[in-house]
Amino acid sequence: KTCILIGAPIDTGQKRAGCLMGPAAYRVAGLAQAIADTGNRAEDWGDLALPALGDATCPNPAVHSLAETVGWTAALADAALRAMGRGFPIFLGGDHSLSLGSVAGVAAHAQAAGRPLFVLWLDAHSDYHTPLTTASGNLHGTPVAYIAGEPGFDAFPPFPAPVAPERICLYGIRSVDGPEHAGLLKTDATICDMRVLDERGIVAPLREFLDKVRAENGLLHVSLDVDFLDPGIAPAVGTTVPGGITFREAHLVMELLHESGLVTSLDLVELNPFLDERGRTAKLMVDLVGSLMGRKVFDRPTRSFG
Ligand code: ARG
Ligand code: MN
Ligand code: MN
Ligand code: MN
Repeated sequence: KTCILIGAPIDTGQKRAGCLMGPAAYRVAGLAQAIADTGNRAEDWGDLALPALGDATCPNPAVHSLAETVGWTAALADAALRAMGRGFPIFLGGDHSLSLGSVAGVAAHAQAAGRPLFVLWLDAHSDYHTPLTTASGNLHGTPVAYIAGEPGFDAFPPFPAPVAPERICLYGIRSVDGPEHAGLLKTDATICDMRVLDERGIVAPLREFLDKVRAENGLLHVSLDVDFLDPGIAPAVGTTVPGGITFREAHLVMELLHESGLVTSLDLVELNPFLDERGRTAKLMVDLVGSLMGRKVFDRPTRSFG
């Protein structure tokens, strides 16, 4: 595989400074080498730049940085579409507003390829606000609604081929605001919240979703938010939520994704290096990419535990 690293130094999707150092931190933590160590190629396209801003307005006065977010969305969608034709894009954030654009480009590619797109959202949050429902005004809380084709995104480019909610899996969530909850209840999105994962374990629900992707010959985009992980192992994020995924669970998720052979693009988002402790969160994220790309402690036939 050729992994294409695309830096997106965005921090306008929320209010705390620091996420814009994320792409640099992943490079310092050795992302390209970790990929090379798994026998895959890494090609670094550098960081995207924010294009000249247009006018953008939204009836919700809480919303901030709308023009910037629309600009990043267009730049990322364009880069994602190009990268999908060349390899396996890995988007280095930047806050989660990055995914408004990365998934838009990936969806355009899937549409042209005539294959359905599936999205696995690894996050403490559901990110199912629209610009009309968000109380914080932080647009990093909105990408899943955009991807699903919800109304309220008039300032944005129309989402190409919205992803049917039954092809979206929210996995690890444990913080959902009222309007997000109401919106999600009207959909058939697969919701693997912490209640589900505690009761059933992490493996069975993930395999069920992967089986659906395989059955429909789909493309699979994985969006990994640092706050998916427990704050005890991943402190470098502005929106920590207790009770997250453990070190061992996170690696197992990545190993299962690798073994599935289904993942075709990846976001790494919300890393705020200013909040890190000697780079441990950045290094953990890099290690998780290693597992996703096939690093193993001991090689044995795929699914031997299946
Ligand atoms: N639901 C909260 C909000 O809308 C938090 C969103 C957190 N999102 C994230 N990508 N970390 O403000
Ligand atoms: Mn998120
Ligand atoms: Mn989150
Ligand atoms: Mn909110």
